[in-house]
Amino acid sequence: MLNYKLHVAEKVSSLLGSFEPQELAALMEYPANHDKGDLCLPCFRLSKVLGKSPKDIAEHLQATLQDEEIDQIEAVNGYLNIFLKKQRWAEALIQHIHHAGHQYGSQNVGQGRTIVIDYSSPNIAKPFHVGHLRSTVIGNALYHIHAFLGYTCVGINHLGDWGTQFGKLIVAYQQWGSKEAVNQGAIDELLHLYVKFHEEAEKDPTLEDQARAWFTRMEHGDQEALALWHWFIDISMAEFQKIYKLLGVQFDAYQGESFYNDKMAPVIQMLQENQLLEEDEGAMLVRLDAFDMAPALMLKKDGSSLYHTRDLTAAIYRAETYDFAKLIYVTDYAQNLHFQQCFKVLELMGYTWASKLEHVAFGRVSIEGGGLSTRKGNVIKLENVLELSVQKIKEVIEARNPGLPNKEEVAVQVGIGAVIFNDLSANRIKDIDFSWEDALNFDGETGPYVQYTYARTCSLLKKAQMGFGHDFLTSNVDGSYLLEKEAVAVIKMLYLFTERIEQAMVKLEPSIISRYLIDLAQAFNRFYHTCYILVEEKHVREARLALVTSVQTTLRNGLKLIGLQAPNEI
Ligand code: ARG
Repeated sequence: MLNYKLHVAEKVSSLLGSFEPQELAALMEYPANHDKGDLCLPCFRLSKVLGKSPKDIAEHLQATLQDEEIDQIEAVNGYLNIFLKKQRWAEALIQHIHHAGHQYGSQNVGQGRTIVIDYSSPNIAKPFHVGHLRSTVIGNALYHIHAFLGYTCVGINHLGDWGTQFGKLIVAYQQWGSKEAVNQGAIDELLHLYVKFHEEAEKDPTLEDQARAWFTRMEHGDQEALALWHWFIDISMAEFQKIYKLLGVQFDAYQGESFYNDKMAPVIQMLQENQLLEEDEGAMLVRLDAFDMAPALMLKKDGSSLYHTRDLTAAIYRAETYDFAKLIYVTDYAQNLHFQQCFKVLELMGYTWASKLEHVAFGRVSIEGGGLSTRKGNVIKLENVLELSVQKIKEVIEARNPGLPNKEEVAVQVGIGAVIFNDLSANRIKDIDFSWEDALNFDGETGPYVQYTYARTCSLLKKAQMGFGHDFLTSNVDGSYLLEKEAVAVIKMLYLFTERIEQAMVKLEPSIISRYLIDLAQAFNRFYHTCYILVEEKHVREARLALVTSVQTTLRNGLKLIGLQAPNEI
């Protein structure tokens, strides 16, 4: 597909000299107001170099720029407004989308480069909460986006499967738990025991000592302690897997914190050799005062390792194993300092690849009536959120389309999709107030709205097929029938897909895709409501159906990128 910005920029570059086409293309914009053209070049950005006024530059270009793709050029207040030939544009784009199909929007800019994504990463024996959901959903979208752009992706689940909390759990289990209760209650029971431990420890501080002792036994490879630990992992993983299955998320590796147990000693040694480690009341830490950061704690008084020790080791292991172009960590912004410290320590250790690490932080999610604190146990379980969403969507479907054959399946696709989309609907750093009404609204800026629009394209094409045969798939679309402003608006949106995916990759921001899908769906629905599609006139009908097919392909590809299914009928 022709890159119009670059195409025009090449011409402009040869007329002006002094600028590379890429440079000029980067300055060009798509005016929001269609009266200002399809592309525009703000000439004041060129004034300094050329030593001319923006007005003169724009007028000069207007007089000299000629191209077979350009219909008309205006010079207005130092802006060069370029109007493309809409018919050619529509024809070329529709053909391209038709041929590219499932690959429409993909590129190979990431060819030969690897990105490692650390995401989801829930903690064993604790519930998978809405924060982990957001990490899972953002990480999964970033995985698909990079893969679509040709990167080799490695998705890692850095499970929280080691630490003093397991000592607490063992103590609680032995004092107040039972095998039957744990087998039956699974994570709920483990959480219950964990909460009970903290309640009791307030009255009896020796429990903390016992917990520490059990964790030390784990660290020394004690069979009994490790058997219990393994059991807690199996129970938790079974629940996490249910959620991943519902979300349609997979990982290339489960390398939790315990994976690094035997890999930390050399890292500690390196820190020592680099004279980065300092003793402080028996504990070992790296001072970061010079960088205005609190110290990063590496070893506790009793010699046990910490979250930091494991992340440092994990980063080094990944650098050695995957030779990545980028390593990103998807967690909420409460961990900002942790990652800043971690990256800084790696840099101080002399690892040049430390600059390839990035913390992809996101905001908190609050759901009416539920906090995230595990200690008090007042957590809304994600599984319940997902189930409730599916249930609510089922009711909507029952009311809207009672005859739908695979209601259950579609309710899952839309119910889960609504929750995923909601997590991606705003800039990731923003906090989200989850509201059922907003997330499930078929007419709002939601997953169900986009999926419903997709289903609309499917039903239109089905009707067309039944009524007129398959002739709308022809590749000889006549773009002169797609010149209504609503049709042109759809063409423009379709065209932007590739660029938006790239932006989402550069900014590590999947909400760019969800926003795009809303814009495309809205543009399509305006077209659908203004231009009747199944008209008698064959050429008009075929052209409009070809546009519908392009929208169908693009919506499907976009939904897939952010982890949503595209049901044919809702
Ligand atoms: N388990 C952590 C949590 O639930 C998230 C881990 C993120 N990844 C990492 N490499 N630190 O908060």
